[in-house]
Amino acid sequence: MATILRTWSYQYQWLYDGISRVAALGVGGETRFHRLPLQGLKIDPEMMVLDLCCGSGQATKFLVKFCNNVTGLDVSLVSLKRAQTNVPEASYVEAAAEEMPFPDNNFDLVHTSVALHEMKPSQLQTIINEVYRVLKPGGVFALVDFHKPTNLLFWPGLALFLQLFETETAWQLLDTDLIGLLKDIGFQVSNHTLHAGGSLQVIQVSK
Ligand SMILES: C[S@@+](CC[C@H](N)C(=O)[O-])C[C@H]1O[C@@H](n2cnc3c(N)ncnc32)[C@H](O)[C@@H]1O
Repeated sequence: MATILRTWSYQYQWLYDGISRVAALGVGGETRFHRLPLQGLKIDPEMMVLDLCCGSGQATKFLVKFCNNVTGLDVSLVSLKRAQTNVPEASYVEAAAEEMPFPDNNFDLVHTSVALHEMKPSQLQTIINEVYRVLKPGGVFALVDFHKPTNLLFWPGLALFLQLFETETAWQLLDTDLIGLLKDIGFQVSNHTLHAGGSLQVIQVSK
């Protein structure tokens, strides 16, 4: 699955950003898209924030507007170098989300934007466990990612997008009970909302 467009979108940041911009129109644009996972959260500028799987800093750019201590983590050095240039206000760590080089109880907020759909089911479990470990008690995990549309009209657009740009893990996420997984690991669910005809989900859970 996926096409050469996936390779190109990771190769050329202008292409990735252009596609993200168009996709975000489904929820009213990029600013609104980035605001969704943070909606209703009390954000303190001194909070320790992790942008998990930060890529080239697309969401990190938004997070640094509210917080002074933002760390971006990604497994791709190329993406991190771009993030460093794009959003120098944050600090960056090259690591796998499955094995984060942070102590226990370190962050007030772990945020991840459209990244969990890149993980295999077994990876997902490990990563959520890691998020739980690095969050302080009472800390929040906020995420936005794909979801199975509840409005049939949104199926063709999502299916085309996944076919062109994603791999089978994105399809697997549509069939994953993410809320159940988070609860099993010990998180308390405070918010689960659907957007863009149900094709996008926002989850906020706390430790
Ligand atoms: C679709 S991009 C999302 C980037 C960014 N968060 C955004 O909002 O556009 C997914 C990112 O996850 C990263 N990634 C994939 N698997 C990872 C892993 N196991 N550990 C850390 N980062 C990973 C990729 O390198 C990529 O930058």
